[in-house]
Amino acid sequence: MNIDWKNLPFGYMKTDYNVRTYFRDGKWGSLEVSSSERIDVHIAATSLHYGQEAFEGMKAFKGKDGKIRLFRWEENAKRMQMSARGILMQEVPTEVFRKAIYKVIRMNERFIPPYGSGASLYIRPLLFGSGPQVGVKPADEYLFMVFVTPVGPYFKEGFKPVKMLLTKEFDRAAPLGTGRFKVGGNYAASLTSMKKAHEMGFANVLYLDSKEKKYIDECGPANFFGIKNNTYITPKSDSILPSITNMSLITLAEEMGLKTERRLVEEGELASFEEVGACGTAAVISPIGKIVDETGKEFFYGDEPGTISTKLYNRLLAIQTGDAADPFGWVEIVE
Ligand code: PLP
Ligand code: COI
Repeated sequence: MNIDWKNLPFGYMKTDYNVRTYFRDGKWGSLEVSSSERIDVHIAATSLHYGQEAFEGMKAFKGKDGKIRLFRWEENAKRMQMSARGILMQEVPTEVFRKAIYKVIRMNERFIPPYGSGASLYIRPLLFGSGPQVGVKPADEYLFMVFVTPVGPYFKEGFKPVKMLLTKEFDRAAPLGTGRFKVGGNYAASLTSMKKAHEMGFANVLYLDSKEKKYIDECGPANFFGIKNNTYITPKSDSILPSITNMSLITLAEEMGLKTERRLVEEGELASFEEVGACGTAAVISPIGKIVDETGKEFFYGDEPGTISTKLYNRLLAIQTGDAADPFGWVEIVE
C-alpha cells in the first residue's frame, strides 16, 4: 500500500472494511462486517424518496506513541440520535454506535495516517430509512453503517485563510426546519450556492438567517466564529448545526482567558471582527481572510491566520493527536 499521506485530499478512498446493522422487526440486529462498498437498497426505501437520512463525521488520529485517539465520539452519537428524532428515524443506541465505530477503526488500522502527516482517519456513520413506503411516512426498517477514509484538509488551502461568499440569494435551511440536524437534505439544499461560490473563486458560502437575512448563520460545512476585544463570538441560531468543534473551541477559548459569547451576530458586525473563521470536524479551523457579498461589498481580515485562531487550532490539534494532555476527557484511546 503506497499512500501519499502528506498530500491526501478530503475525499473517499476505499478501505478494507465497513460495518452495518439493520433495525428490523422492532430491534437492532448484530453488527455485520463487510468488505463490499455496495449496499442493496429497496426501490421504495424512504431515504431514496423522502430523504430519511442522517450522517455524522468524526476523526481518529495516530499519536506519537502509536496509539489511536478518537475525539468526542459520544457527542456525535448524541447528535445522530437528535437527527434521527428530527426526521422520525429509529435512533441508534449509544452502545451500538460505539461498537460500530470501534470495530471499523480497528479493522482499518492500516489506513490511519501516521503521526505527523497532518492527515487523519475520517469516520462517517450514516443512518437511513431502508424500508419501503410510498405514502410520505417513516420507514419501518433502518440501516446504520459506518465507513472510514483517510483524509487531508477539507479546504485545499489547509490552515491558510480562505475567501467566503456571503450569500443573500440562497438559504440552506428554513427557520423552523431541519437546519440543526445533520440530515442529507440540508446538504442537497446547499449544493447550488456552493457551486456558485466555487465558480466565483470562493472556498465556500456563508449563510445569513433565512427569516430576516440579517444575522450570520454558518458556513456550508462548518460553523462560524469571530474574535474581537479578547472575545470569541459565535452565532446563536436554531437553524445551524450544533458543532462539536465549536463547542470545544469555546472551552479552549475560555481556558486561554478569552470571554465567549453565543449570540445573534448581525451582518454589519463583520466589519468589527479582528479574526474570523469556519470550524468543524472536517475543516478543524479554517481562517477566513475575506468575506465578499453578492453586491461586491468586502470584509478583509488578512492573508495570514490570526494569532488567536492559530493558538486555538494548535491547542485543539495537540489534544486530538495526544501531543498535549487532555484535561477535558475528550479523547478516548481505541485499544
Ligand atoms: N455545520 C455544518 C453544516 C456541518 O456540516 C458541520 C460538520 O459536521 C459543522 C457545522 C461542524 O460540526 P462538527 O464540529 O461537529 O463537525
Ligand atoms: C464534517 O465536518 O464532519 C462534515 O460533515 C462536513 C462536511 C464534509 C459535510
